[in-house]
Amino acid sequence: MTMARNPRFSKAADDAALHFTASAGFDWRLIRYDIQGSQAHVAMLGRTGIIPADDVAQIQAGLEQIEEEVASGSWVPRLEYEDVHMNVEARLLELIGPVAGKLHTGRSRNDQVALDMHLFMRDVGIRHKQQLWDVMEALLSQAERNLDVIIPGYTHLQAAQPILFAHHCLAYIAMLQRDWERLEDWQRRLSMSPLGAGALSGTPYPTDPEAVAAALGLDRTYANSMDAVADRDFLIEYMAWASLLMVHLSRLGEELVLWSSHEFGFIRMADGYSTGSSIMPQKRNPDVAELVRGKAGRVFGNLMTLLTVMKGLPLAYHSDMQEDKEAVFDVVDTLEALLPAVAGMLRTMTLQKERIQVRLAQDYTAATDLADMLVAEGMPFREAHHVIGRLVTQLELDHQHFQEVTPDYLRRVAPEIPWEWMKKLTPDAVIGRRQQSMSTGPKFVAIALGKAREWLTRETPREEAP
Ligand code: ARG
Repeated sequence: MTMARNPRFSKAADDAALHFTASAGFDWRLIRYDIQGSQAHVAMLGRTGIIPADDVAQIQAGLEQIEEEVASGSWVPRLEYEDVHMNVEARLLELIGPVAGKLHTGRSRNDQVALDMHLFMRDVGIRHKQQLWDVMEALLSQAERNLDVIIPGYTHLQAAQPILFAHHCLAYIAMLQRDWERLEDWQRRLSMSPLGAGALSGTPYPTDPEAVAAALGLDRTYANSMDAVADRDFLIEYMAWASLLMVHLSRLGEELVLWSSHEFGFIRMADGYSTGSSIMPQKRNPDVAELVRGKAGRVFGNLMTLLTVMKGLPLAYHSDMQEDKEAVFDVVDTLEALLPAVAGMLRTMTLQKERIQVRLAQDYTAATDLADMLVAEGMPFREAHHVIGRLVTQLELDHQHFQEVTPDYLRRVAPEIPWEWMKKLTPDAVIGRRQQSMSTGPKFVAIALGKAREWLTRETPREEAP
């Protein structure tokens, strides 16, 4: 048995039109959620007496068989049935006959597809939580393993002041914690069932949307049927969330690209996370870090796609909204491939401690502190800045660094500065003078690391990711 043709139309859809409008090619991945939603819906139709229990049982059995066929791959969707929903209905008709037609009682594809997307995104959220947690854990472990490592901190990409490597990592962990909170916030808002809205206004059957929502483990139903079928905020929000996450990861990626370059030489990527050049044998390309940076563009692009699709649509459903899927799926696929790779890259990279030390001894990142010492003696900061500027300029000309300066040299170039102060300019001494709890002062960083570890332990995802 095949599906009866819609009597409003004298002909089946033209091939070109079908090819253009069908979504079965990509919404197929919603199938298990579509079946899950149909199971909850038909159970409710039985409970409320909208359709007889016998019919419910037949439909349930048919849906179960479809589930098995999907799992085993013995049945695949057909483009001519347009989308995943029509495919399931068509297969149900083949399996159990005309009673299949009762499944769609009190429901429209408009509330159905919205429900499918909510259920799909709920699982995505659960998986992302685990993936994001892994990234944060990898970063924190790096920080904990390298507690004693000091690196130059930068502004304008100019070596500015020494900081603990762990402090730098904790800055990214702070960003990712905000991403985590935003994800949880989104998950709470996502937990809504649109079913019951029908096409847009509700349905004349005495359905029980609250019970369907509860059966599906969703917190509540939409409050307004028009909003239920026309809302794609939950997908836009997801992609906006993903975009900001990508901003953070892309900045980190850029940082790692720089750090792994010969010019910086702060880190070495593990073999498994770098690739060779096909022509230049000396190279180790930080591929993963580069592509994290590169993938940010497509995530932003997908967000822009859906924002643009939605901005001109009057209520309620329009076919335009079918464009939500490929954009969202692309972001989901991108993150699901990217987050585990980022975690692995962070976990396996190693710090080139000696290189960093040499580097740090050669820059003048203690200059601010030297000026501050003059200030402590009563010199106005601007004047102190000037004195140290003169000293650093001369040191550069003479290819000298703070640690190599002799008393004679200092007397000639900057007589305002007692030579003993030079000993207070080691990176350790400099960071040791930082006094704010948010600063790179080692005792504060140790506290922050402890808090981050506690946080990660407390937030360890326990929900199973399907
Ligand atoms: N394939 C459609 C989508 O993804 C399903 C909803 C279709 N509804 C309709 N009335 N044509 O949005």
